[in-house]
Amino acid sequence: MCGIVGFTGTREAAPVLIDGLRRLEYRGYDSAGVAVSDGGTVNMAKVKGYVKNLSEITHDGADLKGRIGIGHTRWATHGAPNDVNAHPHLSSDGRFAVVHNGIIENYALLRQELTGRGYKFASDTDTEVVAHLLELYYDGDAKRAVMRTAARLEGSYSLGVLCSDGRLFAMREQSPLILGLGVGENYFASDVAALVPHTKNVIYLDDGEFAELTPDSVTVYDVLGRAVEKPVSRVTWDVEAAEKGGYEHFMLKEIMEQPACFKATVEPRIKDGRIVFENFDLTDEELHGINRVIITACGSASYAGQVGRYIMEELCRIPVSVELASELRYRNPIIDKHTMLIVISQSGETADTIAAMRECKARGARVLAIVNVVGSTIAKLADHVIYTWAGPEIAVATTKGYTTQVAVLDMLAIYLADRLGLMEKERYDRLVDALHAMPGQIQRAIDLNRNIGRLAKKFCRHNAIYFIGRNLDYAVCMEGALKLKEISYIFAEAYAAGELKHGTIALVEEGSLVIALACYEPLFDKTMSNIEEVKARGAEVLAVALEGSRKILSKADDVIFVPRTEPVFNPIAQVVPLQLFAYYVARERGCDIDKPKNLAKSVTVE
Ligand code: AGP
Repeated sequence: MCGIVGFTGTREAAPVLIDGLRRLEYRGYDSAGVAVSDGGTVNMAKVKGYVKNLSEITHDGADLKGRIGIGHTRWATHGAPNDVNAHPHLSSDGRFAVVHNGIIENYALLRQELTGRGYKFASDTDTEVVAHLLELYYDGDAKRAVMRTAARLEGSYSLGVLCSDGRLFAMREQSPLILGLGVGENYFASDVAALVPHTKNVIYLDDGEFAELTPDSVTVYDVLGRAVEKPVSRVTWDVEAAEKGGYEHFMLKEIMEQPACFKATVEPRIKDGRIVFENFDLTDEELHGINRVIITACGSASYAGQVGRYIMEELCRIPVSVELASELRYRNPIIDKHTMLIVISQSGETADTIAAMRECKARGARVLAIVNVVGSTIAKLADHVIYTWAGPEIAVATTKGYTTQVAVLDMLAIYLADRLGLMEKERYDRLVDALHAMPGQIQRAIDLNRNIGRLAKKFCRHNAIYFIGRNLDYAVCMEGALKLKEISYIFAEAYAAGELKHGTIALVEEGSLVIALACYEPLFDKTMSNIEEVKARGAEVLAVALEGSRKILSKADDVIFVPRTEPVFNPIAQVVPLQLFAYYVARERGCDIDKPKNLAKSVTVE
């Protein structure tokens, strides 16, 4: 996912922009650049590689003079990662510089038209068409050129536009762009993390809107160029939240933050012993009109949905399915106004999830979003939003994002079951009490596994690791396997334990490592049988079991114990040691834990 920053003020812009880009590095990228101006010429530097390379060639921006500017970190979609394809892109006359996040779907036709008009393209990117369109439509008024250009673009984009006359614009269409309000200076960025060092007062642009920024003013316009009033939001977290805080990696920090993030997500939604949601106000008629729930997401968010599915079906007695967004969007699904679609996304910007959401919304589904980023595209498109309050998640491998998603799904299931008259008061109160106790249980899951590095050292040389479990254990296996493979690059897969004998057990041989989750007590004996099955074929078994479950010691070679919680909340405690196991295995293997190869924090392209 590309990163965008913009600045206008009385300070030199380049150092501010480069610092902003550093705070967006976690999103994954392959090149970086900045363009600045003082009203006259545009000075630009861009380079394949990292922000530190950009800083080196510009002496941390000191070589570039100008108090207005734009910056970009690029995650290549069109055109290889190289200096030429890096952003910003200039118009032929050098008057405009542009940075872009998203995809201009109709860029090929626009490129053909512009080439026919005599424009010469320097790069292979879709973005460059924007720079030349601005030049084509410029008649002395940069704002009008911006509007006319926007009218020609199709697709998703957030754009920063710098004009050599010193004017600075930000444009948003289906890709996040946030304005930062300073004193004598103003900013924009694709992510609040780049703004927080300067200001906590922000404005979230909506699709179709654009803004002009000067050092003393920020004006937002609608698609017709009419000024619109926008609310100023206050960012609730500090710069430190987006920094490592003394941990070796963001991922470890974010694992350790989970007790606090769970509390921040849950506690504000329990008032006088009752679960309340700030933006989920179905009438009884609407609620009883729902006859099925589809949960859609990608990656770990979909695995959080797998946990939610078991719990929601169990408590609410309503059919719930989990559909990978990349499949759901193309499946011509049978959806109507009686379908509730629950969309889960940490970033709120995952392209496949957005597309699936649009598809289902168009077919009449009522959409509830569970997202972590305020003002994100998914949050804005949904009928209802329940935010996870995990704070900024920097590591590509999600941890606190996942557990707070599960926390919201747990609360939602309890809330809906109660609204549907399916929950006795005693059980409701017991579950609410257990929610209050969960931060302590998560901390205990961390404390019980301070020595998990020993297990990681023992098992880090395996080339394939099988996760097996049943019911909720199986759902957690999916997340445990993904964590391991995405940061340690070890082949790992989750299998429903009951499925082993239908083929997969053929893979189990002397020395295979099987991680068996055995916390779902109604099926504990079945899982124990599966452990015996794989052991009989020479496997080594690392089990995950509830504290006090001593029977497991008779079968498993090693055991990770987790605290006993309300059964429906076990997944939240269980996943923590699996996160730590993946982290320490990756560390043993010398992997780039916070920025795993080939991965980005938010997959905003298909
Ligand atoms: C999880 O560790 C991965 N980074 C990935 O699977 C991620 O969960 C997925 O891309 C969905 O991202 P989202 O929650 O931001 O939509």
